[in-house]
Amino acid sequence: MLNIYSDKVMDHFKNPRNMGEMLDADAIGKVGNPTCGDLMYIYIKVKDDIIDDISFQTFGCGAAIATSSMITELAKGKSLDDALKIKRTDVAHALDGLPPIKMHCSNLAADGLHKAINKYRKKKDN
Ligand code: FES
Repeated sequence: MLNIYSDKVMDHFKNPRNMGEMLDADAIGKVGNPTCGDLMYIYIKVKDDIIDDISFQTFGCGAAIATSSMITELAKGKSLDDALKIKRTDVAHALDGLPPIKMHCSNLAADGLHKAINKYRKKKDN
């Protein structure tokens, strides 16, 4: 079988890190991909402005699952400001690339993370 995915993508798809619902999350970023209808939730727990814990639930394709898994690794332990700087393309780069047709799938992860952080900040301000 022709494999269009990097070894890293396959690894994160087969062994996703930090997968699952977080019942005591401080904020949740929910994003959907309008082109395919896939759905992603990013859960964060924040301590002293640092992402203390993070997890995800993704109802989507393999690339979406691998990018969710990777973003949890990229964001864990980072300050909220630094985590906001993680760009859509950073996730794909960290996975040694994605096929062009799957790049849109990787957008969800960064968007979901940013949404969770913004929601957390809004909640804190109120
Ligand atoms: Fe839907 Fe990849 S095909 S996120």
